[in-house]
Amino acid sequence: MKATANAGSNIAFVKYWGVRKGPRDRQLPLNSSVSMTLDVARTTTTVEFASDLKTDRCTINSRPAPPEAIQRVRRVMSRVRQLAGLNQFARIASVNHFPTAAGVASSASGFAALALAATRAAGLREDPKTLVPLAILGSGSACRSLYGGYVLWSPPRAGRQGASVRQIKSEDHWPLVDLVAILNRKRKPVTSEQGHRQAWTSPLLEGRLASLARVARTVKKAIHERDLPSLGDAVESEALCMHAVMMTSRPSLLYWDAATVAVIKAVRALRIRRGLPCYFTIDAGPNVHVITAPEQAEAVTRALKRIDGVQEILCCSTGRGAYYTNAPLF
Ligand code: PMV
Repeated sequence: MKATANAGSNIAFVKYWGVRKGPRDRQLPLNSSVSMTLDVARTTTTVEFASDLKTDRCTINSRPAPPEAIQRVRRVMSRVRQLAGLNQFARIASVNHFPTAAGVASSASGFAALALAATRAAGLREDPKTLVPLAILGSGSACRSLYGGYVLWSPPRAGRQGASVRQIKSEDHWPLVDLVAILNRKRKPVTSEQGHRQAWTSPLLEGRLASLARVARTVKKAIHERDLPSLGDAVESEALCMHAVMMTSRPSLLYWDAATVAVIKAVRALRIRRGLPCYFTIDAGPNVHVITAPEQAEAVTRALKRIDGVQEILCCSTGRGAYYTNAPLF
């Protein structure tokens, strides 16, 4: 009744933004997304069901989990209990192995690790049909972190039940580098959960959705061919497109800081003036992910560190999928 799992965070090249209500009130993504799983930004989670508990108890980095996280953890655990016919609550400990305490999204790695550990602790089948919906209940992007390398998550086709998640290429196919420029470690004022629900209020959403199939094709082709300029060009414009939807939704979501814009400009200058192949992308927060090749990582890191407002650079590469470990946290 006790199991431990480890999973990496991921950075989306084609972003998941916006949900609609599916059958039985399930939240379904409006679009397919493509991501790269990260090696350094990882989470370990231990789950143990116990008869002495009156509710699920959860710590993150040895502290009680914040209410917003607890609510999502309980949602996942209730579903696990329902599937396994269990009536016990669980003790859950989660540790983020990030060199920094905060600043990088840990929900993807956290909920992928939770889905895996809880499934085994409850004695459920450890297959994608069980794991993917459980990870999504915690955080949509977490289902991509179940797999390593380059991953595609597609919403269910009309008339079909579940979403599909699959690896496009393994981590060995193309070891890219993601330099995360950490600008601000504060919690984001509006959660991505809230943002997804209000995406439809943006007048730009329709245009974004209409163009995404083409963008996803370009991104997948660039991954297959290890073509960094084509990938980078598509990834940058796709990130800007998602942020345009965020900014023009009601209420408007502006996740950027002044330093976010400074990093965007610096990345463009590094490419144009110094010929360094590096490209930015940004999730639901101010930090900027700079995608580059391993050979250029050092020069790009040096340049990023000089920008006002950049607190730290976290250097990640392409990582493996979620796995079980024999090293429980308690
Ligand atoms: O998984 P969530 O609900 O935290 O949403 C993730 C949203 C983005 O990070 C902005 C995009 C993505 O696909 O990861």
